[in-house]
Amino acid sequence: MCGIVGVLGNHEAAPILVEALKRLEYRGYDSAGIATVNKGTLARRRALGKLVNLSDLLVHDPLPGKSGIGHTRWATHGVPSVSNAHPHRAGSVAVVHNGIIENYRELRAELAGIGLEFQTETDTETVALLTQHYLEQGLSPVAAANQTLDRLQGAFALAFLFDGEEDLMIAARRGSPLAIGHGDGEMFVGSDAIALAPLTDRITYLEEGDRVVLSRTSFEIRDAQGALANRAMKTIQIDVTQVDKAGHKHFMAKEIAEQPTVIAEAIRHYLPVGEDAVHLPGAGIDFSQIDRLTMVACGTAYYACLTAKYWFEQIARIPVEVDVASEFRYREPPIPGKTAALFVSQSGETADTLAALRYCEGKADKILSVANVAESSIARESDLALPIHAGVEIGVASTKAFTCQLSVLLMLALKAATDRSEITAEDLQAHISALRGLPNVLAAALEQNDNIRQTAQKLSEARDVLFLGRGLMFPLALEGALKLKEISYIHAEAYASGELKHGPIALIDKQMPVVVFAPKDRLFDKSVSNMQEVMARKGKVVLISDAPGLKEGGEGTWETIDAAGAR
Ligand code: F6R
Repeated sequence: MCGIVGVLGNHEAAPILVEALKRLEYRGYDSAGIATVNKGTLARRRALGKLVNLSDLLVHDPLPGKSGIGHTRWATHGVPSVSNAHPHRAGSVAVVHNGIIENYRELRAELAGIGLEFQTETDTETVALLTQHYLEQGLSPVAAANQTLDRLQGAFALAFLFDGEEDLMIAARRGSPLAIGHGDGEMFVGSDAIALAPLTDRITYLEEGDRVVLSRTSFEIRDAQGALANRAMKTIQIDVTQVDKAGHKHFMAKEIAEQPTVIAEAIRHYLPVGEDAVHLPGAGIDFSQIDRLTMVACGTAYYACLTAKYWFEQIARIPVEVDVASEFRYREPPIPGKTAALFVSQSGETADTLAALRYCEGKADKILSVANVAESSIARESDLALPIHAGVEIGVASTKAFTCQLSVLLMLALKAATDRSEITAEDLQAHISALRGLPNVLAAALEQNDNIRQTAQKLSEARDVLFLGRGLMFPLALEGALKLKEISYIHAEAYASGELKHGPIALIDKQMPVVVFAPKDRLFDKSVSNMQEVMARKGKVVLISDAPGLKEGGEGTWETIDAAGAR
């Protein structure tokens, strides 16, 4: 995910931009660049790889100027290279861009048709060339940017900087978040408030379709229809230490370690101390009036939904449909009456999930969201926003947000079961005390770190890994496989254990580690049979279970991990 920063400041922009880009490093990137205007002249520096390469370049080839834009790029169109890195420049304009310009091929053909040449393989360059084309036709920078924005299709956030214009920046948001930061006689732009955290705590979030013209002392926002728009300025509290690794090797390690604390926080908000029922914020929802639940999300958040489906169906007896947002939005499914639509997202800005939510507006009886970023579009646009209280999640791979999502979804399922009179007081209390004990269980699981590291080292030698689970453990197996491929680049697939014999068993041999999630529950014996099938083919079973499960099923396995205690 790319990152954007912009500054119209009173100090040298380059170091401010590089520092702000560092705070966006968590989004992942393969190249970076900045552009400034100094004494009316627009110039840029770009470097491949880590930000330190850009900093080094700036030491040898400084870029003065107090107005600038910066970008970390994650290649989508064109390989990671200096020439494909942002800012992209055409004549008097430089542009940084997040997202995708979907009609860039048509625009490229049109621009090539009038004799313009491309220096890069990116979709973004078409934005710079088109703007320059309009400037050459005599349009002002604001008119040229507007004309360009009118031509673009897709989901994007953009910031424009112009030669000869030291007190002007134009930014636009469609499908990709962008925030304005207000300083004293300074103005900033950032993909998120974290990028701007040490610069200012006064933030205005642009809404969908907004365009803004900024100077150091003023800003004018127009909405998608071109009307002047009033967007609230918020004083936000981002603890800059949250953007610190706090002694951990990387953010993901920090966030994994934070789970007992943040889950306790999430549970406290929905199950206040001394209360014996789940409390939802605001007007809540009455699930006795709901016949059906549709849950929509992407990636890890989708797996949280798949897990929660078991809870809503088994505990609350409510029919649930779960879909991947990118499929749901284009499939345009019918939404029958008495449907609640629930959207799960860490960032609250994922374009497909947001589009799916908007599709349900006016169709579903109630739109709920489970998002981490409280000010996000998904949280703001839902009837009932259920925050997960995970704190800032910087690591690209979602970890603590996933477990906080699960905790909130379980509490929501308990509320649904209560509203629908599907749960006895004893069962509800059993769930509530299990939830309250969760932080301790997680802390015990984290104490397994050294054991887990040994197993991970062995797994790191594999080329392919299979994950298996039954019932609630199936979506967790899917999430495990996603995490393994995302973090280690090892190919991993997950199956419902019962599906093993329907095809994947053909892959099993002595090279193939098979990670089995199987607590000692009513499905355990079936999982043991699956492990036997794997071991009969010399597959290496890694059993992740609890103490009784390991005692009963651990024999003959390659590795065992007790997810809640000793190995
Ligand atoms: C995987 C991961 C992604 C996200 C997905 C949705 O570790 O982080 O799969 O879960 O991109 O993002 P959000 O939750 O922000 O909508």
